[in-house]
Amino acid sequence: MKILVTGGAGYIGSIAVEKLIEAGDSVVVFDNLYQGHRDAVHPDAAFVQGDLADRAAIDAVMREHKPDGIMHFASYTLVGESVQKPFMYLRDNVVNGSNLIESAVEHGVRRFILSSTANLFDDPERMPIDENERIVPGSPYGESKYILERYLYWMDRLYDFRYACLRYFNACGATAVRGEDHTPETHLIPLVLQVALGQREKIIIFGDDYNTPDGTCVRDYIHVADLADAHIRAMRALDGGSRKYNLGNGRGFSVKQVIETAREVTGHPIPAEIGPRRAGDPDILIASSETINHDLDWKPQYPELRQIMEMAWDWHQKHPHGYEK
Ligand code: UFG
Repeated sequence: MKILVTGGAGYIGSIAVEKLIEAGDSVVVFDNLYQGHRDAVHPDAAFVQGDLADRAAIDAVMREHKPDGIMHFASYTLVGESVQKPFMYLRDNVVNGSNLIESAVEHGVRRFILSSTANLFDDPERMPIDENERIVPGSPYGESKYILERYLYWMDRLYDFRYACLRYFNACGATAVRGEDHTPETHLIPLVLQVALGQREKIIIFGDDYNTPDGTCVRDYIHVADLADAHIRAMRALDGGSRKYNLGNGRGFSVKQVIETAREVTGHPIPAEIGPRRAGDPDILIASSETINHDLDWKPQYPELRQIMEMAWDWHQKHPHGYEK
């Protein structure tokens, strides 16, 4: 298939592109390079630098490349930032997604994968969290993804548009050649590895008074290559109908456990200090991915946190200052 990948120069998108090309698909990347990196784009992918706010630019890509399907990664993605800058999320994520979907409908593209998020489940009644959990977006970020999920529901009803919403839990890890490089970096694993590289003095643990066994937040860490695999399987299955999947490992690790694993993998003491809570962090988020396992025979190839950390560490050692630096 020919797949248009928005955000294909970003962390998760660039690794999805790598896996699509390995699977024999052809890829067009559309990315404004706001957080993405030109060097992260697989050399066999066509690259168009453009912004989803620019409807004419999207239409031009649709006309020139005639994709069979779209994977929509491009987005603002930070829960904390979305609370500080709600319009960046509630306006831009939604308007940009809407431009893309409208252009897809007008150009006859009927397969669409949305990067969605565990931030839809701010107040879960059951753990692990399956697709029947009630949706309570935890931030303008989560809300922006939920609006796009609802948008897609109507596209399916009105235009036979087939979509999958993939709700990622905590994406992490790297392939041999692509990894995580955000500016500024806010995610736990790359920050901890920056301490091990000597680029930061210590890691601040955002609160140790949560209702968890060691008091620090518990998250479900899922390897980006496994997320990429889920996208490819979902894209191939779309003719059988639209769907929603929660994507994680089904196991939770606390912030302290992540730091301890990083100490073991890197051999660095990684000093840690307890700081205040970060707004918007729920105690525990663990995914049930039984539905996608059942429907698409998906299961993580890298379920062990230690292996995920080793792969991330390997990439960070080879790219201590990320891409292009
Ligand atoms: N944390 C620290 N110190 C840090 C950074 C993070 O203690 O310096 C903690 C956070 O409080 C949280 C955990 O480490 O408990 C993981 O934090 P990340 O920032 O790495 O990831 P988040 O869980 O906040 O967010 C990620 C994605 C979101 C997505 C969410 C879904 O960035 O897009 O997972 O669970 F919505």
